[in-house]
Amino acid sequence: MASPLQNDVFLRALMCEPVPYTPVWLMRQAGRYLPEYRATRAKAGSFLDLCKSQDYATEVTLQPLERFPLDAAILFSDILTVPDAMGLGLYFAEGEGPKFERPLRDEAAIKALTVPDVGAELGYVFNAVSSIRKALDGRVPLIGFSGSPFTLACYMIEGGGSDTFSRVKTMLYDRPELLHHILDVNARTVVEYLNAQVDAGAQALMIFDTWGGALAAGKYQEFSLRYMQQVVSGLKREADGRKVPVILFTKGGGLWLEQMADTGCDALGLDWTVDLAAARRRVGDRVALQGNFDPNALMASPDAIKAEVGRLLASYGHGAGHVFNLGHGISQFTPPENVAALVESVHKLSLPYHD
Ligand code: CP3
Repeated sequence: MASPLQNDVFLRALMCEPVPYTPVWLMRQAGRYLPEYRATRAKAGSFLDLCKSQDYATEVTLQPLERFPLDAAILFSDILTVPDAMGLGLYFAEGEGPKFERPLRDEAAIKALTVPDVGAELGYVFNAVSSIRKALDGRVPLIGFSGSPFTLACYMIEGGGSDTFSRVKTMLYDRPELLHHILDVNARTVVEYLNAQVDAGAQALMIFDTWGGALAAGKYQEFSLRYMQQVVSGLKREADGRKVPVILFTKGGGLWLEQMADTGCDALGLDWTVDLAAARRRVGDRVALQGNFDPNALMASPDAIKAEVGRLLASYGHGAGHVFNLGHGISQFTPPENVAALVESVHKLSLPYHD
């Protein structure tokens, strides 16, 4: 029997229920800006070794919580474990980011792509989820996650990161049926993957659509949103008698918030280009909003950080439905003491908005 949850402020905010203060967590909160993360990573070997060891993954997930009073933990893993499980051969070239040994470059490879045996190929992720839940002992909820079908496809087709997505976009315009096949396989895989994370103990889910914002109007709906909708429709939404909220985050998706809310998700992640007050007016009675502090503002002084936190809290305004976060992942060059200033400011300055 799992320990009862001592701090459910994050889960309640996602359900737009009243909370005593605005909860906060940070995308990539366990990572290279923390010296203790770099030490564990050196012990583990490669980044993938870190993800694949349940003890190391548990250790680094908890590191930011030991330093800062964050209101949620996020599974330490990576979105690209899913295409790795499909046989594409993920590796991280030092200083170059993720790469695949066998990217999807020809029709035969694309047609051969199928939903993997998630339990067998990604069991190490579910073991990490169970182990982290045990180590958290009810302190805060644990977020599980996945990449969106489209964002995964970007890496699978390009073979790594890209500034232009020229291969993906060429396929989208020339051979849309091939891209649709990849996206359908990805969506079905992501449903199984996220549901297994819930079975293992994940208490909220987030879908990272990092590259959906690179799509043209109309194409976003056809090639990214539609498949996220398929995922949301297939998810288990309750575990242990409690709702498992789902957060959808399309970076650069500020123009499409209403349509994202229509998927039936519980919350939207917002990057820093979106005005919180305007976003709340557009969708705030239907979904919670998570974001949207500019991660680069964390390089400024603690006083400037505090002022910016105050500005965002005022912009969202009174009442529940806001989860404080960054607009994208934290930079590896962030001074940890600035993160302490951010978290403290959110907790203190948000009190008047929740009386
Ligand atoms: O948020 C968390 O703390 C949980 C862990 C997490 C990681 N990656 C750890 C990681 C999560 C949620 C991700 C998601 C992820 N991974 C995304 C979507 C979100 C986003 O940031 O846009 C994407 C696009 C990836 C793919 C990926 N993984 C890239 C592009 C890179 C290299 C980036 C870089 O900063 O070098 C990674 C590696 C990675 N994933 C690291 C971490 C902590 C750095 C690895 C290291 O220790 O060297």
